[in-house]
Amino acid sequence: PPLAAMLNSFDFESVAREVMEPQAWGYYSSGGDDEITLRDNHLAFQRITMRPRILVNVREIDMSTKILGVPASLPLYFTATALAKLAHQEGELAIVKAAKKAGVPYMLPTLSSYTLDEMLAARAPDQIVFSQLYVNPERSRSEEYVAKLEKAGVQALFVTVDAPQLGRREKDMRNKFTQQGSDVQGDEEDDGGVDRSQGATRAISSYIDPGLNWEDVPWLKSITKMKVLLKGVQCAEDAVQAYNAGLAGCVLSNHGGRQLDTCRAGIEVLPEVMEALKEAGATKETFAVFIDGGVRRGGDIFKACALGAQACGAGRPVLYSLASYGQNGIVRMVHMLQDELQMVMRLAGTPDIPSITEKHVITTNLADHI
Ligand code: FNR
Repeated sequence: PPLAAMLNSFDFESVAREVMEPQAWGYYSSGGDDEITLRDNHLAFQRITMRPRILVNVREIDMSTKILGVPASLPLYFTATALAKLAHQEGELAIVKAAKKAGVPYMLPTLSSYTLDEMLAARAPDQIVFSQLYVNPERSRSEEYVAKLEKAGVQALFVTVDAPQLGRREKDMRNKFTQQGSDVQGDEEDDGGVDRSQGATRAISSYIDPGLNWEDVPWLKSITKMKVLLKGVQCAEDAVQAYNAGLAGCVLSNHGGRQLDTCRAGIEVLPEVMEALKEAGATKETFAVFIDGGVRRGGDIFKACALGAQACGAGRPVLYSLASYGQNGIVRMVHMLQDELQMVMRLAGTPDIPSITEKHVITTNLADHI
């Protein structure tokens, strides 16, 4: 179907499934174990109901915002996903360019198909990007990588903390993984003898240090002036510990349902985290909270903002729109989310992002109690 026929982010998923190689589809679409969390990530948004206000002047709707100080056209960023070349020959380079066109930040993945230098070179002169970090068992390699990011003007470092072991993704494991020209681990030319016998997931797990722990946080902060955030927080205690450790924020995420199965969706974790952070004295200015997982509609972004998130990350929608229509597909996908968010904001009586509050949603169906 032509790009113009795409009506929502799910349409791209259907097209991607048709056009992608089965092994690439298996790697992108799979979740951990029984995929309960994978499915629930989007369903959790549907358990939140709207509580709109009427007779607000909604002639003009302003969706613009700042994400970690970076201007964005809506509260959305492209989160890090490994191996974008499995979707499209232009891989991460197309995502960098689409992010610029759509006016949203992109979090460069550590395990990219193109090298870090290639991704950085694809940026427009004034384009700000973030970066995701898998801490390598050889710490000096991570230090070099981070130094390079900082030198290139990358604004924030999201350290992935939910993957000391990669989840068991059976759809992916059934495919023998060959890399299709992808260059695992950013800059490394060699593949470090990775085991490719059990899908892409097993092949990349050797790059991640399972020994990483809270005592490493001072080291992480010491190796860079970038803002450091944790990606993959799942409960209030860890968010508060991150705040107390002097970090800049966290992403409530279950890694797109690819890690520990039967975890709660990020949106479901958000209320307990915001409440605990408030008690701990954190403010939106001192500690930024993001969510990702299952964000497929403009209304999902609205709900995340209502519950206190600064923005949401999109993972698979970016990969699927890239696989289906390349760079233009990604831009179109964002425009659709913008159209949806604009409508939801208008119908909810919230003309701009700051006017969206927890009073605009009802969360009694969320499992948010500790
Ligand atoms: C991911 N994700 C991920 N996260 C991370 O920190 N480092 C990584 O290398 C990857 N790789 C990756 C590959 C693929 C194919 C997917 C789908 C996801 C997780 C990602 O950042 C994010 O948490 C989820 O994708 C969000 O869920 P949705 O938007 O895919 O539902």
